[in-house]
Amino acid sequence: MSAKIIDGKAFAANLTARIGEVVKDAMAAGAPQPGLAVVLVGNDAASEVYVRNKIRTTEASGMASIEHRLPASTSQDELLALIDTLNNDHAIDGILVQLPLPEQINADAVINAISPEKDVDGFHVVNVGRLWAGLPSLVPCTPYGSLLLLKDALGDLSGMNAVVVGRSNIVGKPMAQLLLSENCTVTIAHSRSKDLPAICREADIIVAAVGRPDMVKGDWIKPGAVVIDVGINRMESPERGEGKTRLTGDVDFNEAKEIASAITPVPGGVGPMTIACLLRNTLVAASRRQGFSLPKDMM
Ligand code: GUN
Repeated sequence: MSAKIIDGKAFAANLTARIGEVVKDAMAAGAPQPGLAVVLVGNDAASEVYVRNKIRTTEASGMASIEHRLPASTSQDELLALIDTLNNDHAIDGILVQLPLPEQINADAVINAISPEKDVDGFHVVNVGRLWAGLPSLVPCTPYGSLLLLKDALGDLSGMNAVVVGRSNIVGKPMAQLLLSENCTVTIAHSRSKDLPAICREADIIVAAVGRPDMVKGDWIKPGAVVIDVGINRMESPERGEGKTRLTGDVDFNEAKEIASAITPVPGGVGPMTIACLLRNTLVAASRRQGFSLPKDMM
C-alpha cells in the first residue's frame, strides 16, 4: 500500500485565500485592517526565512504586517519595552516574537509580557491554561494546523488512539490537548519513553514532533495509521552538490509511506499550515478586539 500524501501546501493556500475573503468582507463592512506585528531579534538564518514567509503571507491576505527587527545584542528590557508599546497600539491585533531569542533574553518573560488577547502564537500562560480548561483561547499554530489536516483526512477523530511523540510547549503539549478535545485517547511519548516503537504501533494517529531526523521508522507504524510529521530538519546533501542541504522530517518518509494510509510530506505538509493558522489567529484576535463577527468556518 502506498499512503495518500497529505497536501498541506494546497490546504494552507485555500485557507489563506478564505481568510483573505473574510478580511475583505470585514473591512468593507467598516472593520479596521487587522494588523500583525512580527518581531525578530538577531540573525538566525532559519528564523529569517520563517519571518519573511509570515510577513509575505500576512500581506497577501490583506492584513497589515509591521516588522520590527532588533540586533542580536538587544537587552531583555529593550524587548519588553517594545512589547509594551505594541500591547498599547490599537492598530496591532497580533504580536509574534520569533523564537529562539538570543541567550541574554528570557523567552518566557517576553512571551508572558504579550497581552493574551494579542498572543497569536498561543504561548502565553493564560492561553495555555484556557486551552487546557476547554475555554476559548488562541491556539498554537502548528498543532492547530496539524489538527485541521487530520480532520480533513479522517473526519471524526472520536475514540482513536493518538500518539504524540514530543512534549514541547510549542507543539507536543498543545497537540495532545487538541486531540483530547476531539475525543481521542492520547499518549504523549518522548525521548525517554520506554519502547517508543511499541507505543507508536498502537496509534491510529501519530504526530511526530521531536526534532530528530527520520526517527519514526516504517515498522513503528500500524498499517493504515495517519502520520503527521511536524519535524523540519535541515540536512547536508552532498548528492545535490557541495554545500547543498535538504529538509527532512522526524519520520522516515520512504518507509512510512508504504505502511500508513496518509502522511504529510516535509516540506509541503505541516509547515505551510503553521503560517495559515497564524493568519487565522490574527483574524480571530482582531475580531475579538475590534468587535466584528466571523463566519462559522473561521471560529
Ligand atoms: N520558532 C519556531 N516555531 C515558532 C512558532 O510557531 N512561533 C514563534 N514565535 N517562533 C517559532
